[in-house]
Amino acid sequence: MDARRRETLAGLDLRAEIERLRKERNAVILAHYYQTPELQDLADFVGDSLELSRKAAETNADVIAFCGVRFMAEVAKILSPQKIVILPDMDAGCSLEDSCPPDEFGAFRAAHPDHISLTYINCSAAVKAHSDIIVTSSSAEKIINALPKDQKILFAPDKHLGAWLSKKTGREMLLWDGTCIVHEAFSETELLKLKALHPDAPVAAHPECPAHILDHADMIGSTSAILKFALESPSQTIIVATEPHIIHQMEKAAPGKTFIGAPGADGKCSCNMCPYMALNTLEKLYLSLRDLEPRIEVPEALRLRALLPLNRMLAIASGAATDLTPAQTFPPVTGD
Ligand code: 13P
Ligand code: SF4
Repeated sequence: MDARRRETLAGLDLRAEIERLRKERNAVILAHYYQTPELQDLADFVGDSLELSRKAAETNADVIAFCGVRFMAEVAKILSPQKIVILPDMDAGCSLEDSCPPDEFGAFRAAHPDHISLTYINCSAAVKAHSDIIVTSSSAEKIINALPKDQKILFAPDKHLGAWLSKKTGREMLLWDGTCIVHEAFSETELLKLKALHPDAPVAAHPECPAHILDHADMIGSTSAILKFALESPSQTIIVATEPHIIHQMEKAAPGKTFIGAPGADGKCSCNMCPYMALNTLEKLYLSLRDLEPRIEVPEALRLRALLPLNRMLAIASGAATDLTPAQTFPPVTGD
């Protein structure tokens, strides 16, 4: 943000202005758990990727202000094309999305025509358009278990999530070689030191963590599942191996408990903050609501192709679709 803009914002009560604009624009503010506490506290709804997708599909608002990363806002636009979807900072990307260029993924798919593609929601609309079913960390297991046992599967872009799902479901899967830079930054050595200091504290970890971290976890699940576990656990101290901003919700809901972010190589957890999520700020949320920019746009042909695998996920995750006969469920992805 340049000096003139900062000057203009100086003196404004940003929270009050956001409140005013939210009403004027008939906007809903959706936030992921990895956003800063001030953005989480302003949001109408805070959730994991699946819950945020559902909210985006259901909302009656005219504007969706998405405090999260670009692929999440893109999903909101794909599911609710008639809405204006704004993202406070259009540079809020994701290392998993970056690891999976659409043309390379298209070639990978084409090289394995007998596999269906389960694709983690952390990818671009163009990669979704090449996919059969989108999954999130909270819906993936149910979706894999619903597939015919002889159905070959390829999984992209997160190799750690894919490896954990493969172990959990007993299904062999071809894995794309992508990772989340945030969950890769946890240090096994430092985690073991922390566990030694707190021998009664269970470790709750996100499946985007590598196996050497998951091997030490007492619970593995999506951000929402980690939050639920942390609140319901009888333990007074919990070690949290995911992006540490989720601890804000834990401390709000259970102020008497102690939540410790799993450490990186420096013995602290500062290296595990998502640099992409951090690009969204209160100031940028205010400006995006004021200007209705930056806006997410998805070309209609691409949107329709990406919508199909997203809708399959929503239908299977909610229990509405159970017949996963390949011929009916997986029509071939057509060319560009
Ligand atoms: P979930 O909130 O679905 O667990 O996803 C975590 C994540 O890394 C989002 O980028
Ligand atoms: Fe992407 Fe990882 Fe950041 Fe989530 S935490 S947005 S997966 S880089």
